[in-house]
Amino acid sequence: MANDSAVGLHDLSFATTEFVLPHTVLAAEKGVDVGKYHKGIGQWSMSVAAADEDIVTMGAAAAAPIIERHGSDGIRTVIFATESSIDQSKAAGIYVHSLLGLPSATRVVELKQACYGATAALQFAVGLVRRDPAQRVLVIAADVSKYDLDSPGEATQGAAAVAMLVGAGPALVRIEEPSGVYTADVMDFWRPNYRDTALVEGQESIGAYLLAVEGSWKDYTEQGGRALDEFAAFCYHQPFTKMAYKAHRQLLNYCGHAVDEERVGRDLGLTTAYNSVVGNSYTASVYLALAALLDQADDLTGRRIGFLSYGSGSVAEFFAGTVVPGYREHLRTEAHREAIARREPVDYARYRALHEYALPADGGDHRAPAQTTGPYRLAALRGHKRVYETTGGGRGASRPSARTSTAG
Ligand code: COA
Repeated sequence: MANDSAVGLHDLSFATTEFVLPHTVLAAEKGVDVGKYHKGIGQWSMSVAAADEDIVTMGAAAAAPIIERHGSDGIRTVIFATESSIDQSKAAGIYVHSLLGLPSATRVVELKQACYGATAALQFAVGLVRRDPAQRVLVIAADVSKYDLDSPGEATQGAAAVAMLVGAGPALVRIEEPSGVYTADVMDFWRPNYRDTALVEGQESIGAYLLAVEGSWKDYTEQGGRALDEFAAFCYHQPFTKMAYKAHRQLLNYCGHAVDEERVGRDLGLTTAYNSVVGNSYTASVYLALAALLDQADDLTGRRIGFLSYGSGSVAEFFAGTVVPGYREHLRTEAHREAIARREPVDYARYRALHEYALPADGGDHRAPAQTTGPYRLAALRGHKRVYETTGGGRGASRPSARTSTAG
């Protein structure tokens, strides 16, 4: 087994929504050639949250199989990364903590920096485990990506949650030092507190992302990082999957390599399978890319993966991970494929109604429409308090016994 100085991902599990909108439907509605979506941005469908799903229900659904497999012993920290927060004060992770029945001797916190937040969470988790290798940290990244109807960003929406157990002697991927980090104050994508939908300057966000690729790689090499040729694959943040291709070509160019499309396909090809049908899951996106890679690659034992995490605004980080011997025995490939396959396709009218649905803000007692068949749901809003429940329904995983949470 790996030694104690190795810290990284011990388990990884993701969940997505009840519904899915195919881009063929969107294209027909908008009068757009579907090639723009399939080829131009690399998206085939988008996950659409039911009225009783949100970052908490998805986060709990992603994390429950991890707790079921490993128990909660040693988990003293839960870090929940999101940019579609449900409360300005209370951490979404506290609801998940309650739904999963985690011990009270736990610190729970929420992190935000656009789509980069989960990588900050992962790095903070690695630091906590290095301080005390007996501890494990549950990192959850969950987001519902929402742009205005009829805006260019609409076709790049999506939703998902990834849960990762970070610990010493990891079973999947060892996280290496150093990291290359980069921050630049840009307004490429943002969501003021009074808006439900994000604002994005599409072309500016692509340009800002590409500059961040260069900046984080430059710092990575200055910190003594590995050479480009040492990596077997690259997991990029994928606001739309074609962005990963743009980013990788930029990196090859920056490093003075010819842009060989066969190499680009080899480096990225397996990382886009989930994101191309889920859509942008913001914080979860780069780790959905990792799940797709691990689930599909023949054998990556001992191989290095490069991670490029980007969050608008902007912060980026490049770091490396090494795949651990025996990792394939710990993958959740079947459950991941089921999470995607089980979604119910919706037509444009239903998608639009879900997009426009807003929880009442009058402080009354409101039951949420019962739509999801997933393991957790938002049951009601009572006196401005969210009430969640375990449904007994499911995504193929058995769950902790039924409990209801406000969570308080
Ligand atoms: N067949 C194939 N490709 C087509 C096509 C067709 N019929 N029609 C257009 N395309 C291509 C375009 O050439 C373009 O490719 P390129 O980027 O390689 O030049 C691509 O499809 C997109 O077309 P474009 O006209 O730029 O689309 P758009 O104005 O609708 O905007 C985004 C696309 C991605 C900028 C927009 O969806 C967006 O802003 N998304 C949000 C991005 C985001 O979230 N950023 C923040 C986080 S990083």
